[in-house]
Amino acid sequence: MCGIIGYIGTKKASPILINGLLRLEYRGYDSAGISTVEKNGLSIMKDKGRVKNLYNLKGIDDLDGTIGIAHTRWATHGKPSKENSHPHMDNSKSFSVVHNGIIENYNELKNFLKGKGYNFYSQTDTEIVPNLIHYYYSKDSNNDKYRVLRAVQSACKDIKGSYAFEIISKYMPNNMIVVRKDSPLVIGKGDGENYVSSDIPAILSFTKDFYLLNDNEFAFLSKDNIEFFDINLNKIDKKIDSIEWNASAADKNGFEDYMLKEIYEQPSAIRETIGSRLPENEPCNFEDLNFSKEFLSSINKMYIIACGTAMHAGLTGKYVIEQLCNIPVTVDIASEFRYRNPIIDKNTLCIFISQSGETADTIAALKLSKSKGATTLAISNVIGSSITREADYSIYTHAGPEIAVASTKAYTSQVTLLNILAIYFAEVLESTSKDIITKFKKEILELPAKVEEALKCSDDIKDFSKKIYQEKDVFFLGRGVDYNTALEASLKLKEISYIHSDAYAAGELKHGPIALIENDVTVISVITDENLVEKTISNIQEVISRGAKTLVISSLELPSNNIDFVINIPHTSVFLSPIVSIIPFQLLSYFISKEKGLDVDKPRNLAKSVTVE
Ligand code: M6R
Repeated sequence: MCGIIGYIGTKKASPILINGLLRLEYRGYDSAGISTVEKNGLSIMKDKGRVKNLYNLKGIDDLDGTIGIAHTRWATHGKPSKENSHPHMDNSKSFSVVHNGIIENYNELKNFLKGKGYNFYSQTDTEIVPNLIHYYYSKDSNNDKYRVLRAVQSACKDIKGSYAFEIISKYMPNNMIVVRKDSPLVIGKGDGENYVSSDIPAILSFTKDFYLLNDNEFAFLSKDNIEFFDINLNKIDKKIDSIEWNASAADKNGFEDYMLKEIYEQPSAIRETIGSRLPENEPCNFEDLNFSKEFLSSINKMYIIACGTAMHAGLTGKYVIEQLCNIPVTVDIASEFRYRNPIIDKNTLCIFISQSGETADTIAALKLSKSKGATTLAISNVIGSSITREADYSIYTHAGPEIAVASTKAYTSQVTLLNILAIYFAEVLESTSKDIITKFKKEILELPAKVEEALKCSDDIKDFSKKIYQEKDVFFLGRGVDYNTALEASLKLKEISYIHSDAYAAGELKHGPIALIENDVTVISVITDENLVEKTISNIQEVISRGAKTLVISSLELPSNNIDFVINIPHTSVFLSPIVSIIPFQLLSYFISKEKGLDVDKPRNLAKSVTVE
């Protein structure tokens, strides 16, 4: 997905911008570019392909400007090409703009500008922006220092859609303007210099002090100062936020890939998620939540809404909340939820899960729920992300930055947090006995050690990956929460190994999917629930008798049978088991992807954070 970097200070901007873009590569992109303010006007250097290609562009070393904007593009309007890459300039080459988001009415605005004599050289929606700013700038006769800002504000009033813009201009050679609506943007404050980025980790090595822009807020930056304005250009004050992550947390730390590093970080990430939320002999402690018994008793229905892996975490959230709190929970895919007419009212609690906090569908679903009167609670890994700013309440997974596109530690932290949240609700509601809760808390505290233990299956999994990496199809089976794990295992395998896979609730096999089972097809099952072990085993026998090759991941003693491979993992209580049982599957996808020589961290066609629909 597109990424943005900006720098304003006293150092040469171009190397800082390119380095920042390199840190954004994990988001996925197809072209990159920078624009700086030079003595003789604005420069633009951009091209299709990798960020490092920018180093080879003729003239890049001659750029001396100390103010600049930069962008990695992930095509939405127009194919990946040099012309469609950002930054974009207006016809008079006075304004340079980078943009994340989508301008919905760009055709209408383009036609308007064409009518005024403007020409267009790209297929992008963004190219209208510098031209629209030029149009309004030319109409303003007041030549004070905010003339460009007023032009930007007028342009924004015309634009429908989502955007984070960075704007530089030859008419304000010591300033930069940024504004956002429904697309992420942060400003990092340095000493005599300031940074802008769509992602905090990209500029974490420069500063830990950030201003988080809200929708429709403008920032007018110089190297020493940042002025903030609301939609009507009234000055506003903003408080600075300090981010705890350190820059090295965002590096690979000696691992070959970010994904592997993040898989191995899970014991510590889960420890961080637990944090001080489970004090001994006391109720669960959620600093940011103060739900009363009266309020929670008024909730007669919950939704958990998310996309991809976060949605799979939500599936386990449903099981545990329903069990401990006796409140019905529906899990919804955000992109489906937002386009139907969900039955929601003030007695509904909607929980949104998003690692990045910037997923467009999840944010839209959140806005919809709010508009229907629900109470909204965001679960995110990124402090100050859009979903946390929209929601009534926010809690954080604290898993540290997740860079690899395939989500691993965010998932296990989300499932951990949902379990703790369920306990919190149950304690407030007094809906589960103290003994059960005490036992459950103890199991949660043991999780990091159990995940550590599960990681020891790495060599066995690596061996197994060598046997199946050339497969065309792999099937995953599970029952109960093990089905949730099967779904997540299948998604992981698809996204980084490009092997077709499907996950089925084991009991569904007979209702159709068993027709796909033939000699030598790989079927991988997960069994962690003692109440369901026999049922799943009989489903496995059904596929064995049709010639399938079988692997079972289990935390239980299995009845002796003719399964080809069994990998044992530590046992834990049923609602926590997806946290432990997903580990071998994450490793399996990783090793298969490596065996196939694929780019584990940046799988094709995928982006880390899906900030457009
Ligand atoms: O940032 P989010 O948690 O909102 O992202 C949701 C999905 O896009 C994400 O989980 C995606 O499915 C991952 N690539 C899965 O590994």
